[in-house]
Amino acid sequence: MPRVSPGTLKAYIRDDYDAAAPGWEPFMGPYFRAPAERLVADLAPRRGDRCLDLACGSGLVARAFAVRAGAACVSACDFAPMQVREARGVLDAAGMPEIEVRVMDAERITYPPGSFERVGCGFGLNHFPRPLVALRGVLRVLSPGGRAGFTSWGGFSPSIRERFDERLLDLVPAVGESGAGLETAFGRLSGRNGRPERIVELLARAGFVGVEHRGHRFAADYVDAPTFVDAMLARAERDLRQANLGDTERAEVRKALVMDLSRFGRQEFVVRRTFHTVMGRRAAG
Ligand SMILES: C[S@@+](CC[C@H](N)C(=O)[O-])C[C@H]1O[C@@H](n2cnc3c(N)ncnc32)[C@H](O)[C@@H]1O
Repeated sequence: MPRVSPGTLKAYIRDDYDAAAPGWEPFMGPYFRAPAERLVADLAPRRGDRCLDLACGSGLVARAFAVRAGAACVSACDFAPMQVREARGVLDAAGMPEIEVRVMDAERITYPPGSFERVGCGFGLNHFPRPLVALRGVLRVLSPGGRAGFTSWGGFSPSIRERFDERLLDLVPAVGESGAGLETAFGRLSGRNGRPERIVELLARAGFVGVEHRGHRFAADYVDAPTFVDAMLARAERDLRQANLGDTERAEVRKALVMDLSRFGRQEFVVRRTFHTVMGRRAAG
């Protein structure tokens, strides 16, 4: 396969997250909240520490920072404008209008040097084609002694998710065709830079000190088949749009998926996963 340029790959990833943004909060709620809170607990910000949520999505890490540091000290950024819009709406609704949110590429961080005592990045690093560029940018915006942390996924209980993917492909074959080479390139990037040992190595190479890795477990409870199907369809929104389904066809696809997955027992809707936090500091002096 010809080499995909970082710019092309990033545009593909950005479109994916832009398309998924309106349904992202219901999807991320059960799935990403616990890891975001764990990351922030591991980073242990104090009241008044300036904190940045990098690649914020709907701003779960920012919300967890705000609880500990105070909302006025928190900033958040993401390169997908629709995710930023989603984050703004969710943060306002959560009574945190002071959190500043902006569109920014993690590989071009433009905050002034030394702006933050803490930087948290939830499941973002595996999306960056030039992770070292991003990490050096993070180091630059950290204050001396400041800490940054990154989460990545480990294994998960797969049966129900695999069944969903299989059935969606049966019902909407075009989903498997969209993206083609870019999907593979993104899969490779994510597979390589999502491994915690690799993140440890990248942080050390970028110049972080005191790099440490912790493993965690959590369970996301999707409750029942309709909730699970709606969450997964929200994530597949870009592919579904490309398949050009009308409202009636969409409703039929949803109904067929819900019927199929309803035969799974209650416990199957509790998705168990492991995840990792990798943290490092900017040297104090
Ligand atoms: C899996 S989501 C995680 C969202 C959020 N951090 C959380 O933990 O809930 C990954 C996010 O990274 C963002 N992203 C990917 N590449 C980026 C880049 N180069 N710069 C900024 N954001 C990026 C995406 O737009 C998406 O919102």
